[in-house]
Amino acid sequence: TTNRSSVTGTAPVLVASNRGPVSFSTADDGTLTLRRGGGGLVSGLSAIDDPNAVWVCAALDDSDRRAAAEAPHGRLDLTGHEVGGQAVRMLDIDPLTFARAYNGVANSTLWFVHHLLYATPTAPSFDAAFRTEWAAYRAYNEAFAEALAAEAAPNAAVLVQDYHLSLVPALLREARPDLRIGHFSHTPWAPPEYYRMLPDDVARAVLTGILGADRAGFLTQRWARAFAACCEDLLGATVDHDALTVTVDGRTTRLGVHALGADADFLRERAHRPDVDERLAALRAAVGDRRTIVRVDRTELSKNIVRGLQAYRHLLRTRPEWHDRVVHIAFAYPSRTDLAEYRAYTAAVQRLAEEIDAEFATPAWRPLILHVDDDFPRSLAAYRLADVALVNPIRDGMNLVAKEVPVVSDHGCALVLSREAGAHAELKDDALTVNPYDVIATAEALHAGLTMSPEERADRTKRLAAAATALPPQQWFLDQLNAL
Ligand code: F6P
Repeated sequence: TTNRSSVTGTAPVLVASNRGPVSFSTADDGTLTLRRGGGGLVSGLSAIDDPNAVWVCAALDDSDRRAAAEAPHGRLDLTGHEVGGQAVRMLDIDPLTFARAYNGVANSTLWFVHHLLYATPTAPSFDAAFRTEWAAYRAYNEAFAEALAAEAAPNAAVLVQDYHLSLVPALLREARPDLRIGHFSHTPWAPPEYYRMLPDDVARAVLTGILGADRAGFLTQRWARAFAACCEDLLGATVDHDALTVTVDGRTTRLGVHALGADADFLRERAHRPDVDERLAALRAAVGDRRTIVRVDRTELSKNIVRGLQAYRHLLRTRPEWHDRVVHIAFAYPSRTDLAEYRAYTAAVQRLAEEIDAEFATPAWRPLILHVDDDFPRSLAAYRLADVALVNPIRDGMNLVAKEVPVVSDHGCALVLSREAGAHAELKDDALTVNPYDVIATAEALHAGLTMSPEERADRTKRLAAAATALPPQQWFLDQLNAL
């Protein structure tokens, strides 16, 4: 069920996403406290600065649900919270429906498909439990479509975000044919031969859901082409590969590519506040005059943290000259811990970290500093300090860490970058490219980064920063809106 608003039909611009710009937690005394979320979408939407704009998102836990239930007309009161001018409407979706849609379909199925994460001899297996989850995913998408239809002014522009909401564009078009609808995928898109492991009706529903939009946006050409190829393969769509349009049953959807960049103004200011300086001093004290290899990720299967640690171990095994001369700073903060695969992966990361410590640590040298709690200022401090940044995902829609490090770096940083990250398309000229499955090649790239001359590192970092900030979040957002 959704909140029904009596303030309907006035928003000229709407955004819809599973995770919204704010979240709530409950303090010991029972009061709700609000936290602003990070990310490109939050800073992107602030470019609108229209008090009539509405962001529709889901309540993610009990605190959010309480805040949503207490909000008049479902709209949160955000006065004094620096969340931009727009109103936020949080949908209070029944917890079981939400869990099945978010954990079951979005994160265990669609995310796995687009990131090629299945070990296919045993998974996936689309059984009766999946069918229950799929019904929940439909209901969750219907709740969003209903709320958007109620909030949108005539001819409004609606920007629907990501794989959680792939059915929304078609549902919304049906309810409100006057609207201009965009969908944006923040993930990669799977190639057809992998994508079609989904049950046929599900595979088709996801594609036709997105094709309900006037425009479907992607982070790179590669993901846009994969989407078009799936439409050709599964829907018999006519695809114009140059103009990037997909036509089915006489209706054409334009595909767009918007390579989200880093927010240089925000990052440079934020990275020099006292809380970051403090953490930088602490890291410096721990590292001493040794070199640093830094990685910062969610503990996410696609981020390939285990192979990253294996590569570091291989470096230490094969090049003993680095003993006591390098420290690997790895921040792997918790993510999607409701899923067993993520919990097992977190344990695997921790186990390997302990093995590395046991094999190489001395009383004077800790070869690895692993932190598993999320601390944004500490991440920025590590970016500033890094000599080498390791970004080695199996597959990634963009990867903003690769774009943020060069912007924040104090003295230049070599970037070891997977060729399977969306960011590689823009950063490949000055990054050290790796095949993320090749642990030995990754170790060699780390060595190359560590031995790069300071001048070359600084030059490359300057060019990387320029490429990384070519499309700041606000422009990224306005481009999509204007293209609609
Ligand atoms: O598209 C990927 C994405 O939605 C990113 O925006 C974000 O980094 C991540 O997934 C967050 O995942 P979750 O909302 O499940 O924590």
